[in-house]
Amino acid sequence: MSDRAASAQVARRGRAGALSVPGSMMTFMTENSALLSPAAYAEAVTTALAASAAYYGDGTTPLGDDEYDGLLRAIAAYEETHPDEVLAESPTGKVAGGAVQGDVPHSVPMLSLDNVFDADELAEWAAGLERRLGHPVAGWCVEPKLDGLAVAARYRGGRLVQVLTRGDGLAGEDITHAADAVLGLPPVLTRPIDVELRGEVLLTTAQFEEANRIRLAHEATPFAHPRSGAAGTLRAKDRPYRVELTFFAYSAIGLDDLGHVALLEDLAALGANTAASTAAAPMRCETVEQVQERIDVIAGLRADLPFGIDGVVVKADTAEDQRQAGNGSRAPRWAVARKLAAEHKVTRLLEVEWNVGRTGIIAPRAVLEPVVIDGVTVTYATLHNPSDITRRGLMIGDQVFVYRAGDVIPRVEAPLVDQRTGAESPIVFPEACPRCGDAIDTSEQRWRCVRGRSCQAVASVIYAAGRDQLDIEGLGGTRAIQLVEAGLVQDVADLFTLTREQLLGLERMGETSAANLLAAIETARGAALSRVFCALGVRGTGRTMSRRIAAHFGSMAAIRAADADTLAGVDGIGTEKARVIAAELVELAPLLDRLQAQQVGTQVTEPQKPATEATGGDGAEDAAGGPLAGQAVVVTGSMTGPLAALSRNEMNELIERAGGKASSSVSKRTTLLVAGEKAGSKRTKAEELGVRIIDPEVFADLVADLLPA
Ligand code: IVH
Repeated sequence: MSDRAASAQVARRGRAGALSVPGSMMTFMTENSALLSPAAYAEAVTTALAASAAYYGDGTTPLGDDEYDGLLRAIAAYEETHPDEVLAESPTGKVAGGAVQGDVPHSVPMLSLDNVFDADELAEWAAGLERRLGHPVAGWCVEPKLDGLAVAARYRGGRLVQVLTRGDGLAGEDITHAADAVLGLPPVLTRPIDVELRGEVLLTTAQFEEANRIRLAHEATPFAHPRSGAAGTLRAKDRPYRVELTFFAYSAIGLDDLGHVALLEDLAALGANTAASTAAAPMRCETVEQVQERIDVIAGLRADLPFGIDGVVVKADTAEDQRQAGNGSRAPRWAVARKLAAEHKVTRLLEVEWNVGRTGIIAPRAVLEPVVIDGVTVTYATLHNPSDITRRGLMIGDQVFVYRAGDVIPRVEAPLVDQRTGAESPIVFPEACPRCGDAIDTSEQRWRCVRGRSCQAVASVIYAAGRDQLDIEGLGGTRAIQLVEAGLVQDVADLFTLTREQLLGLERMGETSAANLLAAIETARGAALSRVFCALGVRGTGRTMSRRIAAHFGSMAAIRAADADTLAGVDGIGTEKARVIAAELVELAPLLDRLQAQQVGTQVTEPQKPATEATGGDGAEDAAGGPLAGQAVVVTGSMTGPLAALSRNEMNELIERAGGKASSSVSKRTTLLVAGEKAGSKRTKAEELGVRIIDPEVFADLVADLLPA
C-alpha cells in the first residue's frame, strides 16, 4: 500500500484547482486540488494525521491510497509556497507521516522510499541520481513493492529473538509474539549468525480470504483489505484464533556488503522468503530502459500475483553506488518506488440490486457511485450474500472500500463507519423472489428462490412467450408457473410437445383455452428466426441484436455454426460479447437440438443483409430491393392507423423486412424518421439535422405490401 510518508518531492506535482474545505475527507479526493487558505491547510494536515494514525494503528483508514497521496501532495505544494506556515506536526518528510512511534530503538533507522508516479518521473529521478554520483549507475535491481508492513527481525546466533515494526523509523513496537504466525520468517536461520532481516509482512490473497473466513466464523468484522488485516493481525495479542501471514525479506543489517541482487540470494539461502520465489522476481537491469520494461512486466503480472503490490521498487544494485548516494532522513537516495494505481478505492454505495441466477440463487449486487480503479470505471460490485451484508454492517449511502484487480469482479469490502452522516439507510432485503415472486429459501447463507432452477424456467418460458419473441397469447405468468409446476415444461422447447390432454389436466383449463393455447403455440412454431433466437434469451442479445444476428446468418444452422470470430462480424457485437454469445450457444445446444426436432425456427430462413449494410452481412441475397432499401429509419411517438397495433419491435422488424436499417436514435446517418403522436426530442433532432420526417400513415403506405394482413 501507499507509503504514507509523502516525500517533499511530490510537491513538484502541484496541481491546479481548488480543494474545498474538508467537511468530509472525501473533499480531498480530487487529483487536481490545491489548498487555498491557512485554515484549509491546517485541516488537511489534521486529516492526514488522523488517516495516517488509523492506517498505521489498526490498519483502518478513511482514505484510499490515491486520495491520501493526493492529500499529501496538496499539503506539500502549500508548504512549498508558504514556507513560513509549515506546521510542526506536518506529515511531509516524515516516516509513516509522523503518525506512529515505537519504544524499541532500531539499530539503523528503518527508512521509507520516495515515490515516482510515471515513467518520466522515474527517468528524471534516475538522471538525478547519476548526476549526484557523477557517473552512470552500475546496474539496477527492479522488484515488487509489497503491500504490507515493514518489520525488522533480529537473529542472534541464527535464532530469531525479536521482531519490531517500523514505527517512526527510529524506534518500533515489539511484535515478537506474532512471529510464529508469519510464514517465510524462519525461527532458525541456516547459518548461526547475528543479523537483522528487514522486509514486508503481508496477507497473501489466500491468507486474506482465510482470515476473513475465520473472523466471520468468530463473529468478528472482516478485514477491509489485506493490508489492514496484516496490520491488525501483527498487533493483536489475545485472539481466540490464528491468522497466518507471510514475510518477504528485502534487506538486512549485518550481512556482507553485497550488491542488492546478491543480497536477496543470500537472504533466501538463509531460509527467509524473498520475492525471488514469485513470478515478479527481482531482476537486475543494466539500463533505465530495461528498468522501465521490467516495471511494465511486473505491473502486467500484478493481477495474477497471489499477494498485493502497490508499486515497483527500483534500487541501485551495487553496494558502492548505494554507499556513495547515501540516505536522506526519510528515504535512501539510491532507491525509489514507482507507484502503481491503487486497487482499493473509496466510493459511495448507492443501491443494492438483487439478481436471480440460473440456479435460483438470489445474489446482491452493489450499485456504486462510479469510481475509476486502475483505469477502469467501476459501477457495480459483488456483495456475496445477505448475511455478508449484515456482518459487514453496510448501509445505503455508505462510503465503502471497493477492491478491483485485473479481471476480478470488483467487490465491496467494508463501510467507512466514521464517515457516516446519519443520512444512510438500511439495505432492504427482498421478501419474495425478485424474478418470479415466489418465496425465498433463506436457510443457507446464499438465498435461493424456493423454485430453484425452475424459477429460471418460469421466467424464461414467460420471456420466450412474450410479445417480441414467440408471441404466444395465453401464456402469461400464471400459466407458465402452472406448466412448470406440473412438470410439463422446463424450457421453451417443451412448449412444442404439449398435448391437449396434458393441458386439460391442468386446473382452470377448459377445452377452449387449451385449443387456443395449442393454436398459439402452433403459430409460434413458424415464427421468424429473429424471434426464435430472441426467445432463447441468450445473454447479451435483446430484440435488436437478435434481428441483426438473424439477418446476418439467415438460418439457425448458420448461427449455430458460427464461432466467436464470425459472430464478431455482426454489427454491434464486440469481441467480448461474441465470446459470451458463442459460449451461450454451446450451452444451449441440447435445447436448440430439441427445438430443431420440433421444427421451431427451422422452416423460416431469414433474408441476409449484404456486407455493405451496417448489419455486416456476408453478401447473400437480401431485401435490398425493398421499399426502404438503403434507408436508416428511426421510429418515434405512438403509431396510428394500420400501424397502431405494432410494438416497437414489430415496427423495427417491418423496417428490416422492407430493406431498411432500424435504429433507436437519430444521428447524422439517419435518413428517415417515422414520427407518430407525441414525438419529442427525436423529432426536434431530426429537424435540426434535416432528416426527412413522415407520419405513420405515409409510412404505412410505403410498406403496405409487407404489412401483416
Ligand atoms: S526497500 C532502505 N523494498 O515500502 C530501503 N521497501 O514505501 C527501504 N516495501 O518502508 C525499503 N516492498 O515497507 C523496499 N521491495 C521493497 C519493498 C519495500 C515494500 C515497503 C517498505 C518501505 C515502504 C516504502
